[in-house]
Amino acid sequence: MNVIHRRGWEIPEHRATPEHVFLNRRSFMAATGAAAISLSPTIALAQRAGEAPDPTIDLYPAKRNERYTLDRPLTDEKINLSYNNFYEFGFSKDVSRAAQALKVRPWTVKIDGMVEKPREVDIDQLIRAMPIEERLYRHRCVEAWGMTIPWSGFPFAKFVEYAKPLSSAKYVRMETFLDPATAPLQRQPFYPWPYVEGLTIAEATNEMAFLVTGAYGKPVAKVQGAPLRLAVPWKYGFKAVKSIVKFTFTDQRPKSYWETAQGSEYGFWANVNPKVDHPRWSQATEEVIGTSNRVPTLLFNGYAEQVADLYKGMESERLWA
Ligand code: MTE
Repeated sequence: MNVIHRRGWEIPEHRATPEHVFLNRRSFMAATGAAAISLSPTIALAQRAGEAPDPTIDLYPAKRNERYTLDRPLTDEKINLSYNNFYEFGFSKDVSRAAQALKVRPWTVKIDGMVEKPREVDIDQLIRAMPIEERLYRHRCVEAWGMTIPWSGFPFAKFVEYAKPLSSAKYVRMETFLDPATAPLQRQPFYPWPYVEGLTIAEATNEMAFLVTGAYGKPVAKVQGAPLRLAVPWKYGFKAVKSIVKFTFTDQRPKSYWETAQGSEYGFWANVNPKVDHPRWSQATEEVIGTSNRVPTLLFNGYAEQVADLYKGMESERLWA
């Protein structure tokens, strides 16, 4: 597989130094900052064009859960919607327009594997069965940039209750849609589509694991992974699988998309640790997208208090890749 030269979301080696990342930020802001701001209404129009209003619109803005707050300002929505990774639609950060091809209704979510009863549920039925709330979360991409986002959604633990896994299930595997007719990059056979991610059940039922249905006080946008995506803010952003169509409960550790594509650099756990470099760049600091700040990266992206216990006694595992 010729993946090493073709992966879209990694920092090319020549941009991995702080100086180059800084220069890259400036050129990003210059090239897309103003354009992004004026692009947003176009995106909104495209989302409206020919599509019925989101059937769950009445649930937003959801009540904020004040337990989840931040130490830095929220990323501007327009910036968030114009700097994305969604490789099914392209390898640049500017994929909002391409992602409008995604049809997010009707949408069904399959629950299978080691569960009491496998089933398929309509997304709106699922969303309405869940307690929707808003949480302010950090997001740290493995490329050494970060954002802060007001997600809406429901605790993954509530979904696990709903799915009723068998007690022998140890992992949950999540899968993005597979539709090469809609997503042009899925026509490239050398990538291991569909995008897959996995968590242990203990991780999925940790209080921080969140299934996202909305952002910025409205239903989550297509480019952000509508209609259902994951937020696990103590892990690198690639774990946050978008546009999920299937949850499989299993006793086998799932092999994720990037682990399959480049296992020497990416593993199952992918917990944020500023002291463990990526093989090709430092993880010590991160660029705060939309600002001129570079800030120190925190262990578990600042969520050690909530999640560190999950990894006790696992020091021999590859926890940081
Ligand atoms: N999920 C799918 N299906 N496809 C992707 O390309 N990219 C991942 C993750 N989930 C990705 C995905 C990466 S690398 C990151 S950093 C986040 O989504 C980006 O989410 P954002 O665009 O909302 O910032």
